[in-house]
Amino acid sequence: MTENPVQKLYNTYPFPPDPILNEPPPGYNWRWNWITAYNFCTGRKPATDKIRILDAGCGTGVSTEYLIHLNQNAEIVAIDLSENALAIAQKRAETSGVAAKHQAPITFQQMQLENAAHLSGEFDLINSVGVLHHLPDPHKGIKALADKLANGGVMHIFVYAELGRWGIQLMQEAIATLQGEQKGDYRDGVQVGRQIFANLPQDNPLVKYEKTRWSLENHRDECFADMYVHPVETDYNIKTLFELIEASGLEFVGFSNPKYWDINRLIGKCPDLIERTKNLSEREIYRLIELLDPTLSHYEFFLAKPPLVKYNWSDDNQLSNAKPEINPCLNGFPEATIFDQEYQIVRLTPEQIEFMQACNGVNTVSNILEKMTFNLDEVRQLIRENLIILTP
Ligand SMILES: C[S@@+](CC[C@H](N)C(=O)[O-])C[C@H]1O[C@@H](n2cnc3c(N)ncnc32)[C@H](O)[C@@H]1O
Repeated sequence: MTENPVQKLYNTYPFPPDPILNEPPPGYNWRWNWITAYNFCTGRKPATDKIRILDAGCGTGVSTEYLIHLNQNAEIVAIDLSENALAIAQKRAETSGVAAKHQAPITFQQMQLENAAHLSGEFDLINSVGVLHHLPDPHKGIKALADKLANGGVMHIFVYAELGRWGIQLMQEAIATLQGEQKGDYRDGVQVGRQIFANLPQDNPLVKYEKTRWSLENHRDECFADMYVHPVETDYNIKTLFELIEASGLEFVGFSNPKYWDINRLIGKCPDLIERTKNLSEREIYRLIELLDPTLSHYEFFLAKPPLVKYNWSDDNQLSNAKPEINPCLNGFPEATIFDQEYQIVRLTPEQIEFMQACNGVNTVSNILEKMTFNLDEVRQLIRENLIILTP
């Protein structure tokens, strides 16, 4: 395969440049744990963890390493265009020990995700973070991935948002202008970009934007190059994002950072304005949110291939018969102060701790409630806070 410009960028600057450790990665990211990701999409624990996961555009394998580590029984396939990034991904999984401990096959393969049809079988979870916006035709790419998703499977996608990247867009164009004929020489691009930042007046809006938002990560040339000298990039807004989603033919399940998408945090103090939002479609409300908080630099969301049966546990009988378990992405339980799946601090009452300690995946909710003073609405509160996960 002749090296294309995107491949050349990531062969020169494999991304992300996170160091390789000789121990498993710390903590968790619930979006990369099949149980919590599926629970987010459906409200229930999945029927099996013997599944297949595709990491499409795995880069140097930070996400792949978590996918391996957090899903012991899942077959993992990681693909990328850049052979240098893939080699690091494979080394990362081997050096940290997660590959040796894994209970199912792991494969790393160099290929374009547009050719995903060449992979055997279907996948229950497809993760593609920071990749589709670098394809010449993202609609074609997302469709190729969607075609490999099993019925009832879910896909996690991350793509750039234009509003929060205004400074990046301006700087990309400025660097390309100064590079002229040398555009495509990524090392030169990084040098030009660094010179611009070093020489602009310190109160320049682009310097301030870089300093406050990105400079912490951009001291690494790999990150600087990924941001400022990329040869192919599409930045989305709500309208074009949903065109991308429609091209997949999949169902939009929801943004995986739902707190940002709550209109109440912006205009909730004004009942009149909230009342006016009642006449708007879901997409109009999303657009309103990004207009009113234009710091957004990416969209992250789940799509699903129907049928996907959803549970809201409003039915008392159904909830009573369900078997609860502790969310696998919690830290600190059974202490009274724990971290939830978003690493937010949660303080538990003694009754919540007692209930959660009995959540072993075997007892039903009604079995547990027989022995303690706790009611179904209090169980629902634990579900809303993502502290427990239920099997119907
Ligand atoms: C910004 S990096 C993201 C890496 C990783 N997903 C992460 O979030 O840490 C983008 C990756 O996508 C890969 N890539 C770009 N276009 C691709 C394509 N058409 N098919 C497969 N991989 C691609 C690049 O080689 C690069 O490693």
